[in-house]
Amino acid sequence: MRVTYGLAALTGLALGRPSTEPRNLAPRAVAYVDQETGFTFSETKAAATLQVNIVYRIATPANVPANQPYDVVIQVVAPASLGWVGLAWGGSMIKNPLTVAYPNGQKPTVSSRWATSHSTPAQYTGATYTPLSNGNKSNGTHWQYTVKCTGCTTYAGASGQVRIDPTSSKRLGYACSAGKVSNPSSNTASIPVHDVYNYITHDFSAGANSNFAALLTRNGVSSEPANVTQLL
Ligand code: HEM
Repeated sequence: MRVTYGLAALTGLALGRPSTEPRNLAPRAVAYVDQETGFTFSETKAAATLQVNIVYRIATPANVPANQPYDVVIQVVAPASLGWVGLAWGGSMIKNPLTVAYPNGQKPTVSSRWATSHSTPAQYTGATYTPLSNGNKSNGTHWQYTVKCTGCTTYAGASGQVRIDPTSSKRLGYACSAGKVSNPSSNTASIPVHDVYNYITHDFSAGANSNFAALLTRNGVSSEPANVTQLL
């Protein structure tokens, strides 16, 4: 079989046609079980340079009711060479929640931002981030944060209300810079422009947790559902 496929591929090349050989692309997101926090995350690696990746992990509650807002837990592992990393939930820089983070001693700072143009993003109060008691750390090679986000997956975008479907795959944007933030303990610090931006396709369904609320409690964070405050 291999020989047949190989010859078919060569024939295709000779005729200037694409090969008919099946290509099995690696999955773009995989389930990752984090022993430290207990969450199952959907994980996507994003190239920061040709040599190093940023690892983006997102955990969702299982069985989110249709059209309801929901919280997520975000875990990001970034190489020590990077001064900040960001995730754009709408898949582009403009008019969607931007989760920006930078190293700050042992506990990275996560900052909520929003851009209305391709210039420095402003603070964004529509999303709130609560660090978990585990999963925030730094060593000589990497820094890592783990936070709950309320407001990352629903927002008023450029063409109306957006809700990311927790059972779907979605294109997200990301960006990073080697430039350091001068006052990293502040979540309103100014950040230098990115060296790199690009896109990942993230399969949210790989990070569903049936015990989402209990895991939050285990990690020192209130497990109040995201929509309670909206109903009050
Ligand atoms: C000082 C802060 C920032 C500045 C000055 C800035 C500026 C820009 C500019 C000028 C472009 C257009 C580049 C081009 O067309 O070649 C761009 C694109 C982009 N930026 Fe930023 N940016 C900043 C922060 C961020 C952050 C925090 C994120 C994400 C968390 C981000 C994500 C993106 C993405 C995904 C693109 C690609 C185009 C798009 O999808 O909109 N940027 N940025």
